[in-house]
Amino acid sequence: MCRTRARGCDSCEAHGVESINMRNKSSDQSRLQLINIEVNGVKMARAVLPETTLLEMLRDELKLTGVKRGCDTGDCGCCSVLLDGKPVLSCILPACEVNGRKVTTIEGVAKDGSLHPVQESMIASGAIQCGFCTPAMVLNAVNLLEENKDPSQEEIKECVSGTVCRCTGYTKIENAVAEAAKKMRASDSP
Ligand code: FES
Ligand code: FES
Repeated sequence: MCRTRARGCDSCEAHGVESINMRNKSSDQSRLQLINIEVNGVKMARAVLPETTLLEMLRDELKLTGVKRGCDTGDCGCCSVLLDGKPVLSCILPACEVNGRKVTTIEGVAKDGSLHPVQESMIASGAIQCGFCTPAMVLNAVNLLEENKDPSQEEIKECVSGTVCRCTGYTKIENAVAEAAKKMRASDSP
């Protein structure tokens, strides 16, 4: 071990690496940006690096692991969350860009201990197998039914097709969304 380590030896290889890490850490600190956001109804302030994605902030820092990391390149749709109610791909969205906005993940969809009708229908229709795509499927369907109470089969298909499911073949998921729409219309009618 380097005997001058305690005094700050730059020639010792191990100590040199340590010094670089410390320099990187302090330069990272200076690059942090403060954002104010609301996540699942909870207001918070976070310090994020410019390159931190929304996915990383939600999963790795806030431990909202219902947000799934699939391709990490904006192709599979599994990382979808709602930003001010609209679906976005969190793996390609810098966290600093959501300053002042509301994020909803699957953890925020059930209200007062009751599942959303889309979640209930997904379970009842057997539309969940491994479940990896389910959070994104549910959030996209919640948005669809908020914007359109009576979507056509084609519109449901289009909504579901934005997320890759490796298990179900999509038909059961489409049926679940149609069923949820029916239930929601019935509960809206006087
Ligand atoms: S993980 Fe974001 S689109 Fe695949
Ligand atoms: S249920 Fe497995 S990926 Fe969709």
